[in-house]
Amino acid sequence: MPLKQLAPGEMTADDIRDWCSVLNDMTAADMPGEPRWRTERLHDYLTATLPDDERLVFLYRDDDGDLIGHAGLIMFGGEQAGTGVIEMSTRPSARGRGVGKALLGAVAECASAHGCRSLSVEVIATTPAVGFYDRMGFERAVVEQRHLLRWTEIDWEKIELAAGRLAAGYRLEYHAGGVPERLLDSYTAVKANLRASDDVAVVPEWRGSAQADRLRDSLTTLNRRGMRSHIVVALSEPYGTVVGLTELVVAAQRPTRADQYDTVVDPAHRSYGLAMSMKARLLTELRRAEPQLVDVQTWTMEAADDVRWINSELGFVHDVDWYDYETDVDALLERLGR
Ligand SMILES: CC(C)(COP(=O)(O)OP(=O)(O)OC[C@H]1O[C@@H](n2cnc3c(N)ncnc32)[C@H](O)[C@@H]1OP(=O)(O)O)[C@@H](O)C(=O)NCCC(=O)NCCS
Repeated sequence: MPLKQLAPGEMTADDIRDWCSVLNDMTAADMPGEPRWRTERLHDYLTATLPDDERLVFLYRDDDGDLIGHAGLIMFGGEQAGTGVIEMSTRPSARGRGVGKALLGAVAECASAHGCRSLSVEVIATTPAVGFYDRMGFERAVVEQRHLLRWTEIDWEKIELAAGRLAAGYRLEYHAGGVPERLLDSYTAVKANLRASDDVAVVPEWRGSAQADRLRDSLTTLNRRGMRSHIVVALSEPYGTVVGLTELVVAAQRPTRADQYDTVVDPAHRSYGLAMSMKARLLTELRRAEPQLVDVQTWTMEAADDVRWINSELGFVHDVDWYDYETDVDALLERLGR
């Protein structure tokens, strides 16, 4: 049987090495400008999930035992129960032979057996994966713009200035690896502004942590996965409650790339330049904390004009679009004839 399903914890050191090599071959062929993956803490990265989530891995080996494709399925629990996310790669030299389709079929069957009704996948618009997911009948649900800030192109004088320009009555704090207990409640209250309102999500697929226990779980999970979080909060005086936050993560498996996570300011404290000051301050902290960084990536949607303006002031440049594809699992199984 060339295709094997396993829990990430069952992966051997060889599995992990092969998994990484397929991913890096795929990256070199489809998105050569993206950083390569390292095996450092990759086992942790694949094994740790949020308490209610479950991740499974699918490995496809050829007759010689060489890994030519792999897939990952994360099935969400809690409020997102019934939905899942796929990741998939076929080694470029083995494409067009049905490996991707076989992996997708196995993923869909497994998802269905676990009560997962819909699946989504993120795809870079310039890669062959677009043609594959179109062919497999997935629907393009959301288009996001990816923006990159290249470390060597940062105007540090401008950033330092923006970091220090803070409206009266506020101060900034930087925290690495977590959020202090004293700030948790107001932090999560600010995050709740990203939740869907009137059925319109401010951030698509946002599954952040608008409750203190969820936030603790998600920060713990990031740490267990080898992902270092860096956070700047804006506090309003005199009580020191959080009114704004910006989060960024650097993964041990791709340490030259930082990923911007949420940035949000409480509606009552908007238009004072807090988002700009927080993001600029975070960059100055990163300069000290993560000197190996090559770039920072962030995503915005077409409509998010204010965030796009701040990002472009900081030096972020839009380079490529990302598509979020979705499908109903039963319909996918039917299309695949399974
Ligand atoms: C997408 C990917 C997995 C497809 O793998 P593959 O093994 O070549 O796919 P298959 O051979 O199983 O193709 C299945 C079907 O899709 C079609 N297909 C595959 N790639 C296609 C493309 N770029 N354009 C149009 N159709 C395509 C095949 O022709 C085949 O059609 P058929 O059912 O009529 O025979 C592979 O291109 C890949 O690894 N890409 C990078 C993945 C990636 O971006 N991952 C990150 C996000 S998950």
